[in-house]
Order: sequence, then structure tokens, then C-alpha cells
Amino acid sequence: MAHSLLPLRAVAARVLLAVEQGQSLSQALPPALDQVEDGERSSLQALCYGGCRWFHRLDGELAERLRKPLRKQDRVVHHLLVVALFQLRFSQQADYAVLNETVEACRALAKPHLTGLVNGLLRKALRDDSLADIRDNPARHYSHPDWLVAKLKHNWPDDWTAILDGNNSQAPMTLRVNARRGNREDYLARLQAEGIEASATRFARHGLQLARPVPVDRLPGFADGSVSVQDEAAQLSTDLLALAPGQRVLDACAAPGGKTCALLEQQPDLAEVVAIDQASERLARVEENLERLDLDARLVAADAGDTEQWWDGQPFDRILLDVPCSASGVIRRHPDIKLLRREADIAPLAKIQLGLLAAMWRILAPGGRLVYATCSVFPQENHRIIERFLKQQDDARLVDLDVPWGRPMPAGRQLLPDPLSHDGFYYAVLDKPGGPDAPADDR
Ligand SMILES: C[S@@+](CC[C@H](N)C(=O)[O-])C[C@H]1O[C@@H](n2cnc3c(N)ncnc32)[C@H](O)[C@@H]1O
Repeated sequence: MAHSLLPLRAVAARVLLAVEQGQSLSQALPPALDQVEDGERSSLQALCYGGCRWFHRLDGELAERLRKPLRKQDRVVHHLLVVALFQLRFSQQADYAVLNETVEACRALAKPHLTGLVNGLLRKALRDDSLADIRDNPARHYSHPDWLVAKLKHNWPDDWTAILDGNNSQAPMTLRVNARRGNREDYLARLQAEGIEASATRFARHGLQLARPVPVDRLPGFADGSVSVQDEAAQLSTDLLALAPGQRVLDACAAPGGKTCALLEQQPDLAEVVAIDQASERLARVEENLERLDLDARLVAADAGDTEQWWDGQPFDRILLDVPCSASGVIRRHPDIKLLRREADIAPLAKIQLGLLAAMWRILAPGGRLVYATCSVFPQENHRIIERFLKQQDDARLVDLDVPWGRPMPAGRQLLPDPLSHDGFYYAVLDKPGGPDAPADDR
């Protein structure tokens, strides 16, 4: 059992401070989980995710209530107040307990001079909840940064409020049944036998959505590779690749390996799968996933675009290019994106995306197929990249996607996040003419 060095709320405040300073929740949370009692771990997680999800609303309220901002060295207390307001506004926790324990946490953070302010501010916040007057302030009401609200409104004039609402919802837990081990009907029966309620995903062939999330060790056969956790939108990529025996496949931005494993499960007779990621520490996750599922791929830690460094000169029949992106389609799963992402990040990301696409095209075999994917809802990272690429690359043919999901865009297809099912995702499929089966004038 971990020894609690600090009260739960104080640890949560430190995590939010770390996120504000640039760390992701997946970086800041794991070490913090070791600082609380085992029984408090899920509460810490809920406070940190909720604190990020509702940060912009609660921060706005705090700005109104504090006569002047706290000093820089007391910033952690600002986050402590965000955590406390999150509990007062969004949890079932008794008000007096939130108040007393927040004051206690303030003392534990070595800020005894601020306990009076914390106590007074929270008492006032309890008397008047001030939510009524933020309806005409979308950034506060929907709890997103101004730039993100403005961009979504501009990009999706009919859908922006639904997207913002959806970003604040709890994402479902979705599974991908390992097609090499069994079918989804059989696995559904195994779940039911364990009392876990689930239903088939609408579009992904091997997907099952759980009615309520469960820890993975409760999933029958998880350790033996019967099933993996993967959102429905992400599962759709393998079908678009049109995999066939004997193909050489590249997963160009592979970590943590969800799609690498999915494509290997779907087509057992591929000649070779190469999975690259620039972040070598993230490649370890790919390795773990491959091992659990008993699958095989060649892992390469490299910048995929720097082909001189890693490519052996043999072209690939299939390339999956799941580029680094704003992740604006998965905010409900990663609410820290609201604090971490800046508008200024998007143009440099678009440049990287176009660069990677051009580099991958050069190593795609004639007759080959490239699937471009993002978990973004910004056209700037999606169909505009494909349009720009098609202008510069004469031999690239955009494939018209005849699928029952997503919205047709000027190029490719967009899935907006659906509060009841999949994440926000974008896919475009590009074929390279030529190859042994092509008509003579196409080679
Ligand atoms: C969207 S994630 C990939 C998710 C993965 N395809 C999956 O389904 O599990 C993007 C990945 O691209 C990697 N990345 C970013 N720039 C890269 C580059 N130039 N070359 C290779 N990998 C890169 C990041 O480290 C990150 O792991």
C-alpha cells in the first residue's frame, strides 16, 4: 500500500499544475497515483480528469471570485480551488467535506496563509453557484479555450455545440475482438456470462461497446489476447487498407500499436509488418501489445519521414499513416488537450502531416494503397492536407469511400465524435497506379 504523503486534493492540484505547465495527464498522473492510498486512486483519477474537463468553466468562476489572481508561487492553490469547485459543482460529495478537506489540503501544500481565502471563497461559491450567467459565454459554458470554440464554430457551423457537448461526455469503453481467436458473438456470450453488459458496434466488424467501463483484468481472456480495448473509429482503419495475403505493410506512426495489432489480427498471412514510431519509449507499448496478442511485427524507432535512416529500399504494398495531430476528435478521452493544445500548434502539425504523407508516398509500391488517418476534427489537418497533396502529386488517386459511416468531405471521410459511440476521426484512402495487375497504360 502506498503511504499517503499528501491529502488527495493536494495531489490532484499538483497534477493540474503540472498539466498547466505542459505535461499530459498520462505523464503527470501515474507518479501521482503512487502518492495516494490504493483506495483513493480512482478518486484521484476522477478529480484530475474532471478538473481538466471543467477547467475553463471553473477557472472563469475563480477569476470572478478572486479579487486579484494568486501569486505565481501560490498557483497550486488556484488548482486546489479548481478541484474543490469541480467537486461542489459536479460531484455528489458533501459540501462540508469538500470545504474542510480543501482547507486541510491547502495547509498540507504549505500554504497556511491562504486557508482563510480558500475557506471564504468556497463558502461564497456554495451560497451562489453563478452558473446562470455564463450561457452567452460558450468558452465558459462548454468549458473549452476560446480559440477552440471559435475554430469549431468556424469549421462546423451546424455541429459545433454538439461537438463541444460531446467533448465533455464520458467516452464509452469499446473492445476489438481478436478475429484470430474467435468471433464477436462468442465473445459477447463470454462477457454476458461474466455479467458484463455489451452490444455490437454499429460500423466496426469486430467491435463491442460496453454499457459501463470495467478494468481490463475483468475482461475474459484479456491477458491471453482474446480482446483489446480500441475505439470503434480507430477500428475502421484496417478495413480501408484492403489487406491481402503476401503484402508488405508499413504502420508509419504506430505507437501504442492499436492499429498495428488490429491489421495483424485481420490478415494473418501478410509477408511482413513494419511498425515505426519516433518515440522509442512508446514503442515499448507496441511490443507489449504484440506480445499479449501473440503477433509479430518489426519495430523501428525512427522518424518515418527520414527514410534514408531506416528504409531497406523495398516498397510497401500498404501504408497506414496515422499522423500526429491535434487530437481534437478525442478530447472526451483526453480532456487535458483543452489545456495543452494551442491554436499555434495546428499549422506546424499540418506541415508535418503533409511532409510525412509525401515521404510515405515515395516508398509505396506501384499498385499500393496508403490510408491517411487522424483523430482530428479540423479540416486543416484532414481533407485540406489531402487536397494539397493531390495538387502536388499527379499519380495519387483518391479512392471514393463507399462506407456507411462518417460524412463525405471534399476529400476523404470525417467521423465527428458521437457521445453514444465512436470518437472523432478522419480517413482518406489514396491508391498508387501501376503494379502487376494494372492495365498496360496504367503502369
Ligand atoms: C496518433 S498516434 C498513433 C496511434 C497508433 N497508430 C495506434 O493506433 O495505436 C501518432 C504517433 O506518431 C508518432 N510520431 C510522430 N511523429 C512521427 C514521425 N515523424 N515518425 C514516426 N512516428 C511519429 C508519435 O510518437 C505517436 O506515437
